[in-house]
Amino acid sequence: MAVSIARDGDIALLTVDNPPVNALSHAVRQGLWDAIAAAEADDTVRAVVIRATGRTFPAGADIREFGKPSVDPWLPAVVDRIEGCAKPVVAALHGQILGGGLEVAMGAHVRVCDPGARLGLPEVSLGILPGAGGTQRLPRLIPVDRALDMITTGKPISAAEARALGLVDAVSEPGEAVADAALAHARRLVADGTVPRPTGARPVHPAAPDLFETTRAALARTAKGRLAPLACVDAVEAATRLPLREGLAEERRLFGTLMESDQRAALIHAFLSERQVAKLPELEGVTSRPLERIGIVGGGTMGAGIAAAALLSGLPVHLVERGDDAAARARETVTGMLDGAVKRGKLDAETRAMLLSDAFATGTDYAALGTADLVVEAVFESMDAKREVFAALDAVCKPGAVLATNTSYLDVDALAATVSRPGDVLGLHFFSPAHVMRLLEVVVGRETAPDAVATGFALAKRLGKVAVRAGVCDGFIGNRVLSAYRKALDGAVLAGASPFNVDRALVDFGLAMGPYAVGDLSGLDIAWANRKRLAPTRDPRETYADFSDRLCEAGHLGRKTGRGFYVHGDGKPVPNPEVEAIVAAERAAKGIAPRPVPDAEIVARFVAATVNEGARIVGEGIARRPLDVDVTMLNGYGFPRWRGGPMHHADATGLARILADIERLAGEDAFLWRPAPLLHRLAGEGGRFADLDGG
Ligand code: 3HC
Ligand code: NAI
Repeated sequence: MAVSIARDGDIALLTVDNPPVNALSHAVRQGLWDAIAAAEADDTVRAVVIRATGRTFPAGADIREFGKPSVDPWLPAVVDRIEGCAKPVVAALHGQILGGGLEVAMGAHVRVCDPGARLGLPEVSLGILPGAGGTQRLPRLIPVDRALDMITTGKPISAAEARALGLVDAVSEPGEAVADAALAHARRLVADGTVPRPTGARPVHPAAPDLFETTRAALARTAKGRLAPLACVDAVEAATRLPLREGLAEERRLFGTLMESDQRAALIHAFLSERQVAKLPELEGVTSRPLERIGIVGGGTMGAGIAAAALLSGLPVHLVERGDDAAARARETVTGMLDGAVKRGKLDAETRAMLLSDAFATGTDYAALGTADLVVEAVFESMDAKREVFAALDAVCKPGAVLATNTSYLDVDALAATVSRPGDVLGLHFFSPAHVMRLLEVVVGRETAPDAVATGFALAKRLGKVAVRAGVCDGFIGNRVLSAYRKALDGAVLAGASPFNVDRALVDFGLAMGPYAVGDLSGLDIAWANRKRLAPTRDPRETYADFSDRLCEAGHLGRKTGRGFYVHGDGKPVPNPEVEAIVAAERAAKGIAPRPVPDAEIVARFVAATVNEGARIVGEGIARRPLDVDVTMLNGYGFPRWRGGPMHHADATGLARILADIERLAGEDAFLWRPAPLLHRLAGEGGRFADLDGG
């Protein structure tokens, strides 16, 4: 039974039981509806408590029902039914009280909350707004500006904050079951004969006159291109203008529009894909190896970031550098990263001190890595350097330790072949800054044992990261797609676009940052070194754009040298005036007469190249499914989440249209614009990438 009814004296105890997160699927909605009706009809019941089993009070509406025809009773009616119950209803809240779950709680007359609970309305991050009264009831419980903030950002708040704001009426004592506290509350109400005022009957808190306009102006900058945040503002504003019923109708209207939007479909695809990504047939029934202590070799940009990420999630780290000075520098970098976490409120000063003294060790002796369950190598991007490190690890690491490389491009199979235990070797490709970026590519070699792969996924989970399985090839999933779209955009620059226009057009499309600006941040020398490595095997048919090489040769490596595509000073980076001249010289040398390249063409090139390479990667089995490409590009490369990732975006655009773009561009450069066989086949069949996602 999704909702069961028990009795405690004259109180009806309704229990929601719909694992894993008690989502408000049809059975739960119907169960709540019937149980409230039964409690109302039963004269011996004087009050009602609603609670949930398992790890949480309902964490929201059932996302998997979105996009399907709705079945009565729908959630707004259930919440109204609870609010309209003639007997006091007390909600006992624990876990993550989110979305529709919080709306149910706000329909109740009293809310009692576990001290560890988190409460929020995250609908905006799914491209919708709270559609069961949340936008109308929250501003009747807490100040309008705070309600607006919670609804437009989707960020949850703690039990203590919810109590201080008035969202909950009481917080249970630590160790006390929240259902017991709620029952006690209900008994008191019955004894006093008090009938608490329903949320909907309360007035909306007054709002500052310019609140909505200021918020809209801020969102125009921070939520560019997204529909839901502005609709959230409209809905909350309606609460301040209209009586409850009319406000609810306006909320419903706005909700319906968003529910129909492509952005909703894209954001739900992103949410579900990030959970699907770890579900791989090869890992079914495979358990991770132990993961209690990790080792890191190399404490530069990446090694230090990985150390910080591990420490921040409570994993002890031993980091080996090649000399005492380098080890001391690595410690300093990690200390700086933890200090940053303290500043951002993610870590308290006491834990910081404890982590640095007890959980973090640095040194130069590989023997100290003998007890590590997993070691990540993050030394220079050179096969010789990595081979040396792996030989040393092979000699000291315990049997079964996972040996991982953080290489960006090098051949994981070739590296694995140099040790006596290739089954323990895999790639763990972190992204910079490693303690911030959510993506981790788990690169599976020919010989990698399934439980070593499972350990890579377990590490990601432990670090709060999203892991994607990738096969071995140059650049794995993400950097391979990046190389492909960089070539396509370099082509646009040779044709006549300025790199700055390319960056701007793609930021307008929704990218977090333009690709040339990203190059400046990472350091232009990284891609330069890679191009030099690949030069001997470069296909003679490739048009090679060398303006980035010219910049590097001039010593302009990006932010670290103060100049790259942009000039980096104290303020916002500005275009480097040398760039246009360098590009113009290359065009002249190649005999290209520049032409204006409209933004739409820049975007079409970017999308076509990204999707085409994604299709090739899926076709080759480097990514198992299109969704793996989407999750990679969303979490590591700033692809706009509200477009769902490149493969979802391609489905929404129509594969035939993308293929037509590629075929047209092939007229300019037939080698660069060869359609991937998978894209060709699906476009011909009228298929979609989503058909290959399974699940
Ligand atoms: N509906 C359906 N399934 C859901 C769900 C939901 N609202 N929330 C989570 N799940 C599923 C996940 O897909 C996953 O399924 P799987 O095991 O098959 O992969 C399982 O529950 C566990 O989820 P997580 O792996 O995410 O578990 P965590 O413990 O890491 O996180 C959570 C739990 C914080 C609740 C997180 O799942 C979450 O943020 N869920 C979404 C919450 C949300 O957005 N709620 C609002 C929904 S929209 C709404 O309510 C509309 C209303 O206003 C009308
Ligand atoms: P880095 O140059 O900042 O750091 C490398 C560190 O390794 C240096 O501190 C060096 O002293 C140390 N080192 C070199 N040889 C060593 C040895 N034998 N034993 C112990 N320490 C040794 O380099 P970065 O950027 O951290 O890159 C490391 C690896 O991570 C490379 O393979 C790179 O391709 C990869 N990577 C880099 C990313 C980036 O954005 N910088 C992103 C993802 C992966």
